[in-house]
Amino acid sequence: MTLGFIGIGTMASAMIEGLRASAMVEGLGGGDILLSPRGAARAQDLAARLPGVRVAASNQAVVDGCDTVILTVRPQIVRDVVTALRFRPGQRVISLVAATAAEDLRAWIGLDLPITRAVPLPFVATRSCVTPVFPPDPEALALFDRLGQAVPCASLQDFDLLAVASAMMGSYFGLLETVQAWLATQGLPEPAARTYLAGLFANLGQVARQSPLDFADLRHEFSTRGGLNEQVFRDFAAGGGTAALTQALDGVLARVRGRTPVPPAAVE
Ligand SMILES: NC(=O)c1ccc[n+]([C@@H]2O[C@H](COP(=O)([O-])OP(=O)(O)OC[C@H]3O[C@@H](n4cnc5c(N)ncnc54)[C@H](OP(=O)(O)O)[C@@H]3O)[C@@H](O)[C@H]2O)c1
Repeated sequence: MTLGFIGIGTMASAMIEGLRASAMVEGLGGGDILLSPRGAARAQDLAARLPGVRVAASNQAVVDGCDTVILTVRPQIVRDVVTALRFRPGQRVISLVAATAAEDLRAWIGLDLPITRAVPLPFVATRSCVTPVFPPDPEALALFDRLGQAVPCASLQDFDLLAVASAMMGSYFGLLETVQAWLATQGLPEPAARTYLAGLFANLGQVARQSPLDFADLRHEFSTRGGLNEQVFRDFAAGGGTAALTQALDGVLARVRGRTPVPPAAVE
């Protein structure tokens, strides 16, 4: 099976790195991978380094030469890119394009092709990404399982909600940044704070991934009764921290569902 990528930027490169790594580790052939010519430096570099990866002469040559087309252009241009292409019956499309409905893509393609949406992150390069997939098409699930773990979504609602959850990355680092800045005001040098916080949160991430307990139970487990951890979360919640986070998530959901206008330059 040949995969074709249209738009060779951050996400396409990360997926291609991960797919080639999985082909080597698992001894799979992995099929050929065709790249569109834009993002020329990245495309040439990938083709030069990785077996079975070739740069096509045009976007149309990618579509003509592959079974599954993976759309990895930015939302602002996807309509122009897709309407200029001729797809053929029997092809599949996997779209990574944010805030772009499958119905719109199908209308621009002009054929009733199976279209799957996915929200991978650059962790696909190291095959450690959890990727929401809707609808849960078996081929797309198998693809993202090779790059970590696919999360099949039973409905568009579930898919949109996980897209909202993916918007927590900045806040995660913002939390670390806030604690580090506070530690600095108390006189702790930045390197010590960084080493300690990064290690602490990495271990907590492992616990969250591996423990059978739900998050509320883990919070209790990691908060001695009357202790410091309990105090911080109680004060954080009482000070409006959890309410502010909930409100922020409501705002992102409205944006994901297209109820609030998104400034063109702000779409990720
Ligand atoms: N980055 C993420 O973490 C992430 C996560 C989930 C989903 N996504 C989605 O994935 C998509 C790609 O994101 P990205 O971060 O990889 O973007 P990106 O780094 O900007 O890559 C987009 C690529 O598209 C190329 N391009 C521009 N016009 C083109 C055309 N007419 N035909 C073919 N290729 C064209 C660009 O080439 P030039 O450099 O030559 O302009 C660029 O290499 C977006 O829709 C985004 O919403 C991204």
